[in-house]
Amino acid sequence: MKGLFISFEGPDGSGKTTQIRLLTEHCTQKGLKVLSTREPGGTPISEKIREIILDNRNKEMAPAAEALLYAASRAQLVDQVIKPALQEGTIVLSDRFMDSSIAYQGYGRGLGDGVRVINEFAIQDLQPDLTFFLNVDPAVGKKRVLAEGAPDRMESEAMTFHNKVYQGYLELSRIYQDRYVVIDAARSIEEIAELIRTRVDAYVAERA
Ligand code: ADP
Ligand code: TYD
Repeated sequence: MKGLFISFEGPDGSGKTTQIRLLTEHCTQKGLKVLSTREPGGTPISEKIREIILDNRNKEMAPAAEALLYAASRAQLVDQVIKPALQEGTIVLSDRFMDSSIAYQGYGRGLGDGVRVINEFAIQDLQPDLTFFLNVDPAVGKKRVLAEGAPDRMESEAMTFHNKVYQGYLELSRIYQDRYVVIDAARSIEEIAELIRTRVDAYVAERA
């Protein structure tokens, strides 16, 4: 693939959306072709799946159904948006990717390795080139989310769930050291943005 695929991972409220916005501005200013997308969502079909997943009325959703819905949303996004963009040489910034399913459904819900299997089927060999893990205590992330207003079904989960998700991310950052960039997300928005810009600029220069 000619493009560069960068995912952003971390607990809810870790600052992914903020950093993707700032990095998109930076890449655009440098004249680079860049596309940002989010999960679950990013295509009309995937946005409909997102509504089902995050709806607070769907409290009875079975863990396996939840995992499959995330994977379905991802399969559509990869096929319709991410792969074509990478083939055209675009830098794709994804607000979450498969690691979110491993952390939230695999570790958080306790579904284990089946989550990896269904996602490998969904994404057909696509892995991020770089993953920025915005590492923040999930309790800090939750406070930021609650300050913003009504929490969705996942954000409303108990801290025991979010702590398991966080442990999952720490494990993933150990397993995938080659693509993981761990960032202390308790730092200021501008400090974090500068770290990310420096890393991406270096990666782009290396590949040129
Ligand atoms: P995410 O997409 O990971 O849920 P957001 O970028 O939406 O996170 O940020 C959640 C909230 O926290 C927003 O109100 C945002 O302004 C704030 N925020 C983001 N990054 C930081 C930071 N480094 N320090 C303090 N607050 C932050
Ligand atoms: P998102 O909108 O990125 O939430 P936030 O901005 O608060 O981080 O993601 C929606 C929620 O879905 C979030 O709580 C994380 C969860 N999620 C999973 O449980 N599994 C997944 O595979 C993905 C992509 C997200």
